[in-house]
Amino acid sequence: MNLGLQLEPANESFRDVPDESEYAGDIGAIADTGLITGYSAERFGYGDTLTRAQAAALAVRLYEYIAPAEELDFTADNELPNVAILATGGTIAGSAPSNTATTGYQAGAIAIETLIEAVPEMEEIANISGEQIVSVGSPNITNDTLLTLGKRINELLATDEVDGIVVTHGTDTLEETAYFLNLVVKSEKPVVVVGAMRPATAISADGPMNLYNAVLVAGDEEAKGRGVLVTFNDRIGAAREVTKTNTTALDTFRSTEQGYLGRIVGGKPYFYNETTRKHTTETVFDISNLSTLPQVDIIYGYQNDNRYMYDAAVENGAKGIVVAGSGNGSMSSISAEGAQAATEKGVHVVRSTRVGNGTVSERSALTADSLNPQKARILLMLALTETDDPAEIQRFFNEY
Ligand code: SIN
Repeated sequence: MNLGLQLEPANESFRDVPDESEYAGDIGAIADTGLITGYSAERFGYGDTLTRAQAAALAVRLYEYIAPAEELDFTADNELPNVAILATGGTIAGSAPSNTATTGYQAGAIAIETLIEAVPEMEEIANISGEQIVSVGSPNITNDTLLTLGKRINELLATDEVDGIVVTHGTDTLEETAYFLNLVVKSEKPVVVVGAMRPATAISADGPMNLYNAVLVAGDEEAKGRGVLVTFNDRIGAAREVTKTNTTALDTFRSTEQGYLGRIVGGKPYFYNETTRKHTTETVFDISNLSTLPQVDIIYGYQNDNRYMYDAAVENGAKGIVVAGSGNGSMSSISAEGAQAATEKGVHVVRSTRVGNGTVSERSALTADSLNPQKARILLMLALTETDDPAEIQRFFNEY
């Protein structure tokens, strides 16, 4: 279990405070427990001590971890749907030193209660309950976080009390979490993943309207049975299809080839399309008894590349490799040698593409269909929890 706490190297002057020793703990030893992220030998060494602030942050995370699951706290309007918001951090919960700063801010700094309080209009469309799963920038979402989140969503949706779920998330890896949930949630009730491109402290922050829209969709009867949805910038996308296309633009989430499922206009969701790929209750995946996911790495193809990335992945325990190949999943001869050697050692290699759009056509190797490399990694991890048979793995890629 990783608590998603990111440590920053200690401020030297703070570390010199005399009573600091009262809070001392060995960062290296704590990092080895797997409870925190952001630890690396270059940044912290064994024997480095926690600052008072770090100790306090760790204590809060530990408390959240050991504390019993929160009681759902829905207000009592029986006419309205009950929507649980599960928060993971990201820019939607980001805080910057000035209201014009849209870069260089701290992602995941603002707690879910504050995000909910900032949009009181949500009370008119749903009974809301908030729960903080982790508070991280989304590059720090781990397989542990995915499993925690997926299990919690399944637990909540199995009750009559919850009608829909919203997950607040950093945009950088939002599509990976959304696709993971699309494959493991066992309910037809709506699950909507949402983020923002501007921190909550910015003028014209996009988070409040995105969150409002997400709650609107999560509480909408029409959103049922459509798989996990991503709402952003008034658009409703399918988790399998949407991808982040721009580093900073507000309309970064696009669904270029398959199109959006719908849009939100005048405070109402309108659906126009359906995904044809299996999702949620239609998949074979069951995470209820999983505590880890198999390691799957992604290797990028480029001119003059080499095979050592493949060798390194195998040596470091990869059970699967996704190739972000050039064009229609093509690889250099030397990379193909590395991939072949990995396959001979029982590692499943799936070809995707770095192009960003299009289907990698089937050939003798496993192929990712139209999944981009980061989503192909999610599916391959889950596929490997079910089977070691390449034909079955390919079937998952063709159907999911
Ligand atoms: C993140 O992914 O956590 C940071 C960027 C963002 O949320 O837009």
